[in-house]
Amino acid sequence: MKAIVVQSEQEGRPLVWQDVPAPVLQPDEVRVAVQATALNRADLMQRAGNYPPPPGASSILGLETAGKIIEVGPEVSGWQVGDAVCALLPGGGYAEQVTVPHQLLMPVPAGWSFLQAGAMPEVFYTAFVNLFLEAAIQPGEVALVHGGAGGVGTAAVQLLKKAGHTVIVTAGTDKKTAFCRKLGADLAINYRQEDFAEAVRTYTGGVDVILDMVGANYLHRNVRLLKVGGRLVFIAMLSGGQVEFDLGSLLGRRLRLIGSVLRSRSVAEKIAIKEQFMTRFWPAAAEGTITPVIDAVYPIEQANDAHRRMSQNKNIGKIVLQVSRQG
Ligand SMILES: NC(=O)c1ccc[n+]([C@@H]2O[C@H](COP(=O)([O-])OP(=O)(O)OC[C@H]3O[C@@H](n4cnc5c(N)ncnc54)[C@H](OP(=O)(O)O)[C@@H]3O)[C@@H](O)[C@H]2O)c1
Repeated sequence: MKAIVVQSEQEGRPLVWQDVPAPVLQPDEVRVAVQATALNRADLMQRAGNYPPPPGASSILGLETAGKIIEVGPEVSGWQVGDAVCALLPGGGYAEQVTVPHQLLMPVPAGWSFLQAGAMPEVFYTAFVNLFLEAAIQPGEVALVHGGAGGVGTAAVQLLKKAGHTVIVTAGTDKKTAFCRKLGADLAINYRQEDFAEAVRTYTGGVDVILDMVGANYLHRNVRLLKVGGRLVFIAMLSGGQVEFDLGSLLGRRLRLIGSVLRSRSVAEKIAIKEQFMTRFWPAAAEGTITPVIDAVYPIEQANDAHRRMSQNKNIGKIVLQVSRQG
């Protein structure tokens, strides 16, 4: 099969679509002929040599997939050759074929394209697990989502609005904030033009839950914005992770800081997340009221251009890589 291989010995570590061995099918797995995958920031970090895949995972980039089953292992039940599926992966998505434990599969919702389905698992699971399980957001609570126009942010806005929450987002351009408002955000703040903490304070006084990928630069302001019992969940540290911090500021309001990552969780944990996500939000996906925001679609051979777009923070929603046009 063909897959994207990082030419790590070359300047700029270019991505090249080339022949590689197909993955070996385990008895409880299906083999999927990939139609689409999508970019995640983790791919950029892995390409740069800063985010090795977890033990046992493919060294090929790509954390999600959509396509058709072409082979079924002897211990698989409930799935057949020809089924249209999508799934979270620990790696290996930028390829013509992937193998997936059958318990991690989701059907492609009726009416969705493979391009949409391939852009769904990573960001919707990330938004779901961090807001609804880690932070355990409660009815009536207010959420602040940084990076609101990114892949995770646009998934988070949709899930939070579906669940009836007030949602505030930050983003770096007026085009992005306008998009977030259209998507349902109650307040969208251009953090380059105004202090997001001041804007949140004026709007609601404070928030109960914050989903943050900025880290050091935002820590003090985030903590000050939390109401009593508030939770701040870190999923990345785009501005860095080193910061001086007064732990005493957590005590009086009984605040909780939570760090969380999806990729290195066990298959059992990922299956549990999938099942809880499907129980809570599958009806909305199936009726199309939540769906990935697609920023751009590139043929897989143009993965370098797709990476450039994400590294320049140009995307609103997901950048998709089309692997095949068949089916
Ligand atoms: N822990 C986990 O399990 C997990 C899972 C998935 C993703 N993540 C992480 O979550 C983050 C968001 O993922 P994504 O898929 O939504 O990425 P994305 O689509 O690239 O969106 C991230 C957005 O963050 C903003 N940003 C970038 N650098 C920034 C900085 N220094 N300060 C403030 N804002 C900055 C940019 O938008 P603006 O133009 O608005 O600034 C960028 O578009 C990534 O860092 C990713 O690695 C973590």
